[in-house]
Amino acid sequence: MIRFDVLTLFPRMFDDPLNESVLKRAQEQKRIEIVVHDIRDFGLGRHRIVDDTPFGGGGGMVMKPEPLVRAIESVKKPYPSARVVLLTPQGAPLDTDHVRRLAEYRHLVLVCGRYEGIDERVRGGFVDEEISIGDYVLTGGELAAMVLIDTVSRQIHGVLGHENAAHEDSFSEGLLEYPHYTKPRDFRGLRVPEVLMSGNHEEIKRWRRKESIRRTWLRRPDLLRRADLSREDLTAIAEWEQEGASCRETA
Ligand SMILES: C[S@@+](CC[C@H](N)C(=O)[O-])C[C@H]1O[C@@H](n2cnc3c(N)ncnc32)[C@H](O)[C@@H]1O
Repeated sequence: MIRFDVLTLFPRMFDDPLNESVLKRAQEQKRIEIVVHDIRDFGLGRHRIVDDTPFGGGGGMVMKPEPLVRAIESVKKPYPSARVVLLTPQGAPLDTDHVRRLAEYRHLVLVCGRYEGIDERVRGGFVDEEISIGDYVLTGGELAAMVLIDTVSRQIHGVLGHENAAHEDSFSEGLLEYPHYTKPRDFRGLRVPEVLMSGNHEEIKRWRRKESIRRTWLRRPDLLRRADLSREDLTAIAEWEQEGASCRETA
């Protein structure tokens, strides 16, 4: 069981995306819990102010420290060991290693920025780590928080239908996953590879491994440097390298 507390200025954004399919079932089964808090409830004064103009001038607004820190402290009060994660394009890039590590926590507090971002003083003393979901800038941290919740939840025991599913996915062993096919056998002249219909499980396993390696070699050669490759894998790669551009994606 993992609990996510989300701090956001736009709580309604979380209504639907997290309440469908796998994550809906995971919440019903109490494998994950998602609680969304409106930072404006911690805003200052009658107008519940949460932002202000930047010192030093320039455009845009900055999220004030007091409402954010009050919100973090309120959420952490009953759960002092909760880990506070700020979503920011300046954070560590989220990858499978990070996801697995985050899934070890019982409780994550996700802070979603808006506008030009948050007052720097919040980052220093009140945030445990900063995560980016990619080298681009979103309008707010909400979508990033949803990405994090989705991918961390997949690591929680019982969230996915069959337990092996996450182990076979792309990146789980440092490789992209092999291609998938379903019925019909022939779709507009495009045929399913024969081996997948052979019933020979050893052959299918070998084909999938080879296609996984081929895909990674073609699309993400950077991943291969860290992957655990067998002699057979290395021989296949050497052959494709000799074939060069003529090497196609599927056998
Ligand atoms: C418009 S952005 C602010 C960007 C900031 N001025 C900068 O250049 O670093 C507003 C908020 O969106 C969120 N955000 C934007 N891009 C993100 C990304 N790639 N990963 C995670 N959060 C992101 C952060 O919470 C950020 O505070």
